[in-house]
Amino acid sequence: MTEARYDIPFNRPSLSGDELKYLAEAVRMGHISGDGFYTSKCHDFLERKLGVRRALLTTSCTHALELAALLLDLNKGDEIILPAFSFVSTANAFVLRGARPVFADVRPDTLNLDEEKLPHLITRNTRAVVPMHYAGVGCEMDTILEIARNQNLAVIEDNAHGLFGKYRDRFLGTFGCLAAQSFHETKNVTCGEGGALLINDERFIERAEIIRQKGTDRTRFFRGKVDKYSWVDLGSSYLPSDILAAFLFAQFEAHVQIQASREQIWQRYYGELKDWADGNGVRLPVVPAECDQAYHLFYLLLPSLKQRQRFILRLKERGILSVFHYVPLHTSKMGRRYGGMPGDCPVAETISERLVRLPFYNQLSETEQSRVIDAIREIRV
Ligand SMILES: Cc1ncc(COP(=O)(O)O)c(C=O)c1O
Repeated sequence: MTEARYDIPFNRPSLSGDELKYLAEAVRMGHISGDGFYTSKCHDFLERKLGVRRALLTTSCTHALELAALLLDLNKGDEIILPAFSFVSTANAFVLRGARPVFADVRPDTLNLDEEKLPHLITRNTRAVVPMHYAGVGCEMDTILEIARNQNLAVIEDNAHGLFGKYRDRFLGTFGCLAAQSFHETKNVTCGEGGALLINDERFIERAEIIRQKGTDRTRFFRGKVDKYSWVDLGSSYLPSDILAAFLFAQFEAHVQIQASREQIWQRYYGELKDWADGNGVRLPVVPAECDQAYHLFYLLLPSLKQRQRFILRLKERGILSVFHYVPLHTSKMGRRYGGMPGDCPVAETISERLVRLPFYNQLSETEQSRVIDAIREIRV
């Protein structure tokens, strides 16, 4: 069934201000390929707002992760530790470079990589850890960073969900040497398909610019640092059109209002579903005190797969689309090729079967949300 048949979809993209004006402006300025006026406005915004050394827009978060993996210079046999409950790109980006993914189970409260499992997964081949901040709620970064420092491992944050979220008052995306953002249609700020690589360790900056520009020193050429540009390293084309950057910049400008409206939606779901959840054995999201979440998504954990499927069906009958999330990576066809077995990551396995995400988008109206809440409260799990 397509989303169009639902009265209340799971996600609905919206304009938040000047998107179309800036898009036309990019065309008028005569530069709609990558690294134009709006791309540099976006870079500037991310660098200032988050306090990262360098931000580079990419065509997706997947590509930002691939760029990060290229920067690590991985060799066959190198191992990367990542949460079993994550999107395929968290693994694929490194697998593409010949590395072996090692799957960590997640914490039952935040559903983030379980830092206590980390020491047991480290071998002499481990090169990096990729924490992913699920739902924009920060991982236990103090512990993860300490373990990584002691073992000389790189930390790459998959911050697809976490833009504007904080851990101990510091923005997510500023902890790892590198971090990847997503501006996919379902994210808080979007340009349809897009992403960014955040660089906190300045040793990576020059090479990241080269890899993103097809392995050439074109960025240095445009800065007047070299008199011609040529092929100098591995690379690909990871830079988005300035048309997408123009759209994205308008969303960045509206980020305060976007975040405020998402916070309000999240708090209303939480407040108005709490009693129903308690009475039905359903668990609501957990946000530790040290985390300011990014208000990226709202999920429920039903008691079992069967009850989750029934719940999705009941909402569907009311014209409301609710969706499950990741299938565990370690038990997927590819995960099993890397040695993953059912039972390896029991928390990831159970939450994957029980989790359901509710409609959540910037312009979800009060009336729409009331319909979702009323429909849920009628369900006896
Ligand atoms: C945790 C995580 N990482 C990476 C991605 C990939 O993002 P993109 O679609 O921008 O490539 C997603 C997709 O939603 C995701 O959930």
